[in-house]
Amino acid sequence: MSASTNELLQKARKNQIAVPGFNIPYLPMFEPIVQALRDSHSFGLIMVARLEWTKFEAGSLTAVAEEYHRVMDERFTRLHLDHIPVIDEDNLRVDYLPIIRNAIEAGYQSVMIDGSRLPLADNIAATRSVVELAHAAGVAVEGELGAVMGHEDGLTPSYEEIYASGKGFTNPAEAKQFIQRTGVDWLSVAVGSIHGAISKAFKDQKKVQARLNIPHLRSISEIVDIPLVLHGGTGIPKQYILDAVRHGCIKINIGTALRQPYEQTRFRSPGKAQQVVYDTAMTLLRDELNITGSAKIINP
Ligand code: 13P
Repeated sequence: MSASTNELLQKARKNQIAVPGFNIPYLPMFEPIVQALRDSHSFGLIMVARLEWTKFEAGSLTAVAEEYHRVMDERFTRLHLDHIPVIDEDNLRVDYLPIIRNAIEAGYQSVMIDGSRLPLADNIAATRSVVELAHAAGVAVEGELGAVMGHEDGLTPSYEEIYASGKGFTNPAEAKQFIQRTGVDWLSVAVGSIHGAISKAFKDQKKVQARLNIPHLRSISEIVDIPLVLHGGTGIPKQYILDAVRHGCIKINIGTALRQPYEQTRFRSPGKAQQVVYDTAMTLLRDELNITGSAKIINP
């Protein structure tokens, strides 16, 4: 039987190897990403977030699952459901449990519940309800504590102000409590990264170069013992990412780095757009994350 995604992430954590999570806002991005993972013998997750079928062209979570099952390669890939928010980027309440239930039925191998816009107690309660549902089906759950901003329309205050003030950074003691009380398998933490913008007004702009507060990350990773997740992986200087991986941030979510070059090319030449995704994914795997050959260790 093939290893569960959680077993694979645990192994990656033990060996301090990054596992990229690549977002799919457009279905034709699937093939080149899977091909890049296969050609570089790297292990990674392919993922879709709710906003990618509501605001982009992923279609639906079942459309993504169908395409995944057509092109997947068990050696190198697993399917993950990214951001199902309890309160979304437009401040609307989401009926998250039926979405998670549908995803598990459609074959997603891990899911994320994002209660980060809720007060701590409510985030714990929502995350706990998803853990109960998902674990009964053997599916791993990622939660989020702290605020990785950027999906909201416009970033106020500015990135520099957020970073300098540590606003929204994950509190280490709360992280420990959150994990104990929810039973989550992986935790998305806020330590300086931001999401690439997705609103019409900002989605084509070059993303700001974010930094990571590694001492803050270390203060979290010293007291929690599950894989941590870095959201907003696009455009962070390489040394920060490699340091983050060493300090337990194993899953690195990457969306904008592949979406923008795809969008810039797709109307001129759909074939070339897929090639651009392949080339960009290859560069990320080989030169930024340094994980060429990682499947040999993570999923032998
Ligand atoms: P970027 O688009 O900034 O790479 O972030 C992706 C992400 O974190 C999806 O969950």
